Amino acid sequence: MGETFIPLADLRYAAAPLHVPADAAAPTGLIADRLGRPLRDLRISVTDRCNFRCSYCMPKEVFDRHYTFLPQSSLLSFEEITRVARLFVAHGVHKLRLTGGEPLLRKNLEVLIGQLAALRTTDGEPLDLTLTTNGSVLERKAEALKAAGLQRITVSLDALDDATFRRMNDVDFPVADVLRGIDAALAAGLAPLKINMVVKRGTNDHEIVPLSSHVRERYGPSVVLRFIEYMDVGSTNGWRMDEVLPSAEVLQRLRALGPLDAADAAAPGETAERWRWRDGAGEIGLISSVTRAFCSDCNRARLSTEGKLFLCLFASRGHDLRSLLRGGRTDDEIAAAIGHVWRDRDDRYSELRSAQQAPAVSGERRVEMHYIGG
Ligand code: GTP
Ligand code: 5AD
Ligand code: SF4
Ligand code: SF4
Repeated sequence: MGETFIPLADLRYAAAPLHVPADAAAPTGLIADRLGRPLRDLRISVTDRCNFRCSYCMPKEVFDRHYTFLPQSSLLSFEEITRVARLFVAHGVHKLRLTGGEPLLRKNLEVLIGQLAALRTTDGEPLDLTLTTNGSVLERKAEALKAAGLQRITVSLDALDDATFRRMNDVDFPVADVLRGIDAALAAGLAPLKINMVVKRGTNDHEIVPLSSHVRERYGPSVVLRFIEYMDVGSTNGWRMDEVLPSAEVLQRLRALGPLDAADAAAPGETAERWRWRDGAGEIGLISSVTRAFCSDCNRARLSTEGKLFLCLFASRGHDLRSLLRGGRTDDEIAAAIGHVWRDRDDRYSELRSAQQAPAVSGERRVEMHYIGG
């Protein structure tokens, strides 16, 4: 009996086969899941590698030199990624976010950006095309990213103080390089630029006010600083509720810098609650997936580096898109398979966890953030 060799790294997360419905209707751009949520946002992880070891994402003790990352042959090619993105766009996706790991470590990423920038929504509009980076090589790459068609960018930055920043990234990376990356991105016209700070109580929460003050004074309204509650994502970060600093407390601390007014959401299904400085210094965002879950209108799907489709950040099981891509299936068939799983989706992990109804831990490991992207 012929045995099929499957590289071990491919088995790290279970994947369900995707069902291709026999009566494959063409996508209408108006699909909704079982809770009535449309599909608007596709997050594409382009590498599972990162040069940082943030303890909330890739703790050093787990992701050490013995850790096996995905082999090159597992990764989707740029052509495969663009094909998948095009099919998601046909289902109504308006926003594409490239993530990692650290996406700027993927070789020739500009080529992929060029291909994605050429896509158009079902209304013929350009997509909202963006990327999340740790900023470590941004200074060098900002201009090429912009030239390739990237519109905006989000930089993760957990502290302004160098010692705290080095402790957060756990590879002794200096904050000054990331700050230069942010300046380069702004100079290249990647706007609006967002900075995401994951807050861990007792580790970097003393940086909330200094970082915010720096962003207000140096950049004003051209940069939006967002504070993210430390989440129980994955299963390696040793998450504890007492290390979560609720967004309500972040807001309270920020009031030391001046009055803030609540602002309306720019689009339905947004992760961040927006607040505006009354003095005109721009806005901040609070991402409260622990204390105020935002599953009710979650319109995000995620594509892993090796082509598994995840319908929730907290899933333990993806859907194997790659085997359809490499199995000679037509665009219509693959689009129909995507439509089928989205229509069947009922994930709302964060809401269930808040209500203390999170699904009991099954035998399957929850997917890790470095693998699926933020
Ligand atoms: P913008 O389009 O710029 O507003 O980006 P975004 O907020 O949609 O995406 P981003 O990747 O910047 O999200 C910021 C953080 O929010 C992530 O790093 C996660 O910590 C969290 N987050 C994003 N999407 C989800 C989600 O679907 N569920 C949960 N629980 N958290 C999420
Ligand atoms: N909690 C919240 N956000 C996280 N990220 C990674 N791990 C976590 C976590 N445990 C997000 C951060 C980071 C991005 C790459 O992923 O926003 O900036
Ligand atoms: Fe790398 Fe971002 Fe994860 Fe930190 S949070 S280890 S920078 S992927
Ligand atoms: Fe969406 Fe899952 Fe996050 Fe809820 S927990 S917002 S369903 S990805």
